[in-house]
Amino acid sequence: MQPTFARHPATRFRRVRRTPALRSLVQETTLSVSDLIWPVFVVDGEGVEQPVLSMPGVVRRSVDKVVEAAREAADLGIPAICLFPYTDPAKKTYDCAEAWNPDNLSNTATRAIKAAVPEIAIMTDVALDPYSVDGHDGFVVDGEIVNDASVEALVKQALSQADAGCDIIGPSDMMDGRIGAIRQALEAAGHTNTCIMSYAAKYASAYYGPFRDAVGASGALKGNKKTYQMDAGNSDEALRNIAADLEEGADMVMVKPGLAYLDICQRAKAQFGAPTFAYQVSGEYAMIEAAAQNGWIDGDKVMVESLQAFKRAGCDGILTYFAPRMARALAG
Ligand code: PBG
Repeated sequence: MQPTFARHPATRFRRVRRTPALRSLVQETTLSVSDLIWPVFVVDGEGVEQPVLSMPGVVRRSVDKVVEAAREAADLGIPAICLFPYTDPAKKTYDCAEAWNPDNLSNTATRAIKAAVPEIAIMTDVALDPYSVDGHDGFVVDGEIVNDASVEALVKQALSQADAGCDIIGPSDMMDGRIGAIRQALEAAGHTNTCIMSYAAKYASAYYGPFRDAVGASGALKGNKKTYQMDAGNSDEALRNIAADLEEGADMVMVKPGLAYLDICQRAKAQFGAPTFAYQVSGEYAMIEAAAQNGWIDGDKVMVESLQAFKRAGCDGILTYFAPRMARALAG
């Protein structure tokens, strides 16, 4: 690249770094509260707030408490909340029918939030793992996670979520063809305004450990998810997945996990220019919190720096368990 600036001392990079005012003036990307989506865990009961041990500061909430959390989020200016149910193990079956029960935890929470906090966008999770005795995102037949039968079930799940009033469907299952199938079904059912944010490039990652504790899927999971989630060594494959999901009708795409896959975020945004999101997943959150609790890093500062990285990479927004804390920090 040709130098586009004069040599030292005519150029002194430190001039614009001298004061907070000058630094803020030349900041290239900014993190704002409108970039944040807050994932929350929902559990049965009333008045319940259950700590998730592997995610310090994160709790599972009963529906009434989730409504309070949504109120708090909306008041902070957080545009969207994302629901993940902890399903009673007694409701986990091989056919995963609880996933499309109109009165399951996720749908009940959606309706309750819509009634009390209509201004916040609600995103819901499409995948069978919270409802499956095998802990997999699709059906398991003779040890294989079967694709097309799983997609049929995921469509039913997505329709039940749209019926409940969610704004954004978030398929996190990584089955092939599910975005197209869900989009067609939504259109046919008259849900023409329901958005889809596809977990388009989702890697088979060890960073999901604390999340599986939070939704009670760790114990259930048999084997691993490598036949449907991506291999950490791949990058072009991520772009092909994203292209397919956009062609099938995704409005927004997501890369997951976050920090370890920033190169994918950058390539995705550069290539497609679609609304692009990253998920700063449970393990990323847990690592920051664990080090902060030990006094080894400044948790607040690392929170900000880790979230800024996503904006710098080109993301339009971030799903993060830090959302309310980050929002309060931004509000000063
Ligand atoms: C499963 C799902 C996972 C996450 C969101 N949806 C875990 C997995 O694929 O096993 C992970 C989120 C996190 O770690 O914060 N459908």
